Amino acid sequence: MAAMSELILTQTEDHVGVCTLNRPEVLNALSVELMDQLIAALEAFDNDPNVYVMVITGSEKVFAAGADIADMAEASVVEMMEHNYLARWLRIKAIRKPIIAAVSGYALGGGCELAMHCDIIIASESAKFGQPEINIGVMPGAGGTQRLTRAIGKFKAMEVILNGRFLSAQEAFEAGLVTRVVAKEQFLAEAMRLAHQIAQRPPIALKLAKEAVLKADEMSLSEGLEYERKLFYSLFATEDQKEGMRAFLEKRKAAYKGK
Ligand code: HXC
Repeated sequence: MAAMSELILTQTEDHVGVCTLNRPEVLNALSVELMDQLIAALEAFDNDPNVYVMVITGSEKVFAAGADIADMAEASVVEMMEHNYLARWLRIKAIRKPIIAAVSGYALGGGCELAMHCDIIIASESAKFGQPEINIGVMPGAGGTQRLTRAIGKFKAMEVILNGRFLSAQEAFEAGLVTRVVAKEQFLAEAMRLAHQIAQRPPIALKLAKEAVLKADEMSLSEGLEYERKLFYSLFATEDQKEGMRAFLEKRKAAYKGK
């Protein structure tokens, strides 16, 4: 099933929902309208019981070259705050189902931050990650200073953020930002292959596992362990827990229902 809104193309394939950024003339610059369409699409997939996993991608040439500079260039502080320019990113953070970023070409500024809002990043060998906001008089604003630092460590993050240096796909992989690097022709197929595999897993456990992993960035170790324990126990209220464990013991494939 394929549907088209102007700036985001959406498609569902089995239990995988795909959002494709579609503003090629400005390298998928993340305008307010594009972000609003993306968030609407992600929230619709999050609420769709038929979708278990999502993929966000761009084109082979570009994932996204950042927030739309033309949107922001003449803005005042009051306008930025009144339009709540950055708060909408919290709605991406709040998506509960796993999201895979399939990145080829540039993922810069808000584009890199969008990839870092996802849970797994599959990169084509041509991918370039960066936070070049410093070159246009500002700094990252949608989580780059926090998520990049957590992903690759302070000393590498500082060079990327303070000097606007791009990381190649291979560097990003070695630094821990990228899950896997594949040939340019393969990046989307590989992300879809992985998404379909993950979509075979029990959907409620997927959501809670994502939630628990993300808490690792927010909580102390003992708080995080406690949180994990509670989520683990809560899964024993699901039919899928019974089905998964019984199927193992009966040496058959589990048939999960998301219940
Ligand atoms: C608006 C953009 C854009 C952007 C590219 N374009 N990036 N428009 N916002 N972020 C437009 C160009 O103006 C140009 O339009 C067209 O896309 C093609 O871009 P070129 O520069 O001609 O392409 P190329 O020479 O291949 O260079 C690619 C590039 C460069 C290295 C990616 O475009 C670039 O440096 N872009 C800006 C990257 C950046 O600074 N990102 C951070 C943005 S701030 P015309 O009309 O001339 O064809 C940010 C803050 C995040 O993200 C805060 C939270 C969201």
